Amino acid sequence: MNTPKLGVNIDHIATLRQARGVGYPSPIKAAVECEQAGAEGITLHLREDRRHIQDADVYQIKEQITIPMNLEMAATSEMLDIARDVKPEWVCLVPEKRQELTTEGGLDVLGQEPWIEEVVTSLKEAGCQVSLFIDPDVTQIDAAIRIHADAIEIHTGAYAEAGLENNSEAEAKELNRIIAAVKHVQSTNNDLLVNAGHGLTRDNVYKIAKIDGINELNIGHALIADALFMGLSDAVVAMKNAMAGQS
Ligand code: PXP
Repeated sequence: MNTPKLGVNIDHIATLRQARGVGYPSPIKAAVECEQAGAEGITLHLREDRRHIQDADVYQIKEQITIPMNLEMAATSEMLDIARDVKPEWVCLVPEKRQELTTEGGLDVLGQEPWIEEVVTSLKEAGCQVSLFIDPDVTQIDAAIRIHADAIEIHTGAYAEAGLENNSEAEAKELNRIIAAVKHVQSTNNDLLVNAGHGLTRDNVYKIAKIDGINELNIGHALIADALFMGLSDAVVAMKNAMAGQS
């Protein structure tokens, strides 16, 4: 088994900072520490309401890390301008609703294909690779392939939620949807990278990590929560061990 890479989402370091409106804890320092501990990517979501990550964080993290930066953002003209200026290695397009606690559901690529294609093309022209955060749905995957996305990130939220509710039937069903989605990519387009993320924890990550064909997992909330008790570096190492089935 090829263990996927770990991308650490550091949004919630900024959530803690914004709770007080002070300068700490620093998401920049966190990103550097994650890299030193073995993270293979840093993910951050610049939301339209700037509830956690701020514009300056995006620029500074890009300067301070040597591993790829994955900027999650809504497909809006404002975000497109920022991404084209920062030029992160990766941009992940996500749906965004003001009131949501976190990203609910995947991006509807199919329903807005011409616009998403325009955004993908523009980001690629600026030198970024583009990933689309979608549900494990073959019609969305086919749309992502048609508009030449470099990667998809499969939304694992429904799988994670079923596990939290101890609903093993729903968990198995969601896992099978994810496995089928990865197989669909493998049988259709070998160039499209498949990432996954949302709601992953040390307890539920292995079943996703061991799916053949997953390139990277993006994990935030549970890893930052672990960091409160074990420290950030150890939380990164512990998640990598859990991904490898060594917990
Ligand atoms: N991937 C995407 C596209 C996301 O929007 C998020 C949440 O910001 C994550 C991964 C990480 O999810 P979590 O914080 O639940 O690990």
